[in-house]
Amino acid sequence: MAIELVTAGESHGREVVAVLSGVPAGLRLDRDGIDRELARRQHGHGRGGRQKIEHDRVEVRAGLRGGVTLGSPLVLAIPNRDWENWAQVMDAWQVDPAAAARRRLTAPRPGHADLAGAWKYGHDDLRDVLERASARETAARVAGGAVCRQLLALCGCEIRSGVLALGEVTLTEGPPTFADLGRVRDDSPLRTVAPEREDELVAAVDRAKHAGETLGGVVGVVARGVPPGLGSYARWEDRLDGQLAQAVMAIQAVKAVAIGAGIEATARPGSRAHDPIFPGPDGVRRGSNFAGGIEGGVSNGEEVVVRAFMKPIATLRDPLPSVDLASGEATTAAYERSDVTAVPACGVIAEAALAFVLARALLAKFGGDRIDDTLAAIREYRRRLGKLGPERFVAP
Ligand SMILES: Cc1cc2nc3c(=O)[nH]c(=O)nc-3n(C[C@H](O)[C@H](O)[C@H](O)COP(=O)(O)O)c2cc1C
Repeated sequence: MAIELVTAGESHGREVVAVLSGVPAGLRLDRDGIDRELARRQHGHGRGGRQKIEHDRVEVRAGLRGGVTLGSPLVLAIPNRDWENWAQVMDAWQVDPAAAARRRLTAPRPGHADLAGAWKYGHDDLRDVLERASARETAARVAGGAVCRQLLALCGCEIRSGVLALGEVTLTEGPPTFADLGRVRDDSPLRTVAPEREDELVAAVDRAKHAGETLGGVVGVVARGVPPGLGSYARWEDRLDGQLAQAVMAIQAVKAVAIGAGIEATARPGSRAHDPIFPGPDGVRRGSNFAGGIEGGVSNGEEVVVRAFMKPIATLRDPLPSVDLASGEATTAAYERSDVTAVPACGVIAEAALAFVLARALLAKFGGDRIDDTLAAIREYRRRLGKLGPERFVAP
C-alpha cells in the first residue's frame, strides 16, 4: 500500500493534523526528532509575531504503541497555541453573527489565495480562504515528513537544505551539493550556505521590513544515499522528478522548481550538460551530477538535488490595489500580521517534501509491511546490482 499524507486544520483553529498512512510496522519513532523538525520550520530572521507564540510540539494520536509504528495510519497533531486568542474570531458566527459580519475580510490580497479561493468556494469572508491557504498548514507536512525522514535514515538516506539566495543577494550560483549544505547552521538567523555573509542578508531583511516590503529567494535541498531505481519512466506519473516537482511546488509561494542543473544546462552544449559514466573498483562512478541524481524519471544513485524558487510574501504593509468584494468599490488589500520573508523555513518544508516523496518511492520499489522486510529487500537489490551498481550506493 502506498504511503499517503493528508493534512487538515486551519491556521487559527485548534490544531493542524497530519494523517500518514502506509508507514511499515516496526519503525521506532523519535518524537523529539519530529519536534526538532517543527522547531527548524519556525526559525528564521524575518518571521512574523506568530512564531513567538507557537512552540510546536507533536502529539501522536494514533498508529504508535510503545513508541513503535503499528503499520496503521499515524495521526500527528500540532496544537495551535494562538487558537485561544482567535477562538472568538474562528467561531464568531456562533457567538455573535452581527459581529462576525462586521469583521468580514473583503479586500483580497494580490498574490494570495483570497480572490481565487472566494470565487471557487463561494466564501464572502476571505478569512474562510486564508485560514487554510496559510502556510501554517506546512507544520503538518513537516511532521509527516519527519517520520518519512526517520524511515529514510534507516535506509541510509539523509536530507539537507539551505538558503542560496534572498531578495537581490545571490550567495551561490547553480545547484548545491550535499557537502555545500553542510555549511548551513540551523541556529543561524537565515540558514544560508554562506554563514559569513549572513549579516549582509539580515540587514537586507531589516531594510525590507522598514520599507514595508517582503522578500523571496531560492533554497537548495539535497538528498544523499538515495538508492538507484526509485521512480519510473514506464508511467509518466511515476517519474521521480515529476513527483518531486509537484511536492515542492505545492509549498505555498514556491513558483519554480529545478532538478540538478536544470536551468543552467539549457544554455550549454550537450557535451557539457550530461554526466559521464566511468567504471571503478567499487562500482560505476559519475564524473559530475548535472542531472541532479535523476535520469529518465529514475534515481541513479547520485545525490538528488532540487532547488525551490520562492516569491516574496504577498501580505504587504502598504497594500496593493484591490476591490472590496462587499461593495464592488476600489480599495487596498487587507493587511494582517505577516512574515517579511520565510525563505529559511521554505528549505525545511522542502526537506519534508523530499522526505515524503522519496519514502513513498522507496516503499513502492522495496515494499515491506515491516521495516525489516524493506531493509532486507534493499540489501538484496544491492547484491543484485553488484560491481556494476553505483559506487555511492551502500546497502543499509
Ligand atoms: C513558511 C511560509 C510562511 C509564509 N508566511 C506568509 C505570511 O506570513 N504572509 C503571507 O501573506 N504569505 C505567507 N506565505 C505565502 C503564502 O502562504 C502563499 O503565498 C499563499 O498561500 C498563496 O499561495 P501561492 O503563493 O502558492 O500562490 C508563507 C509561505 C511559507 C512557505
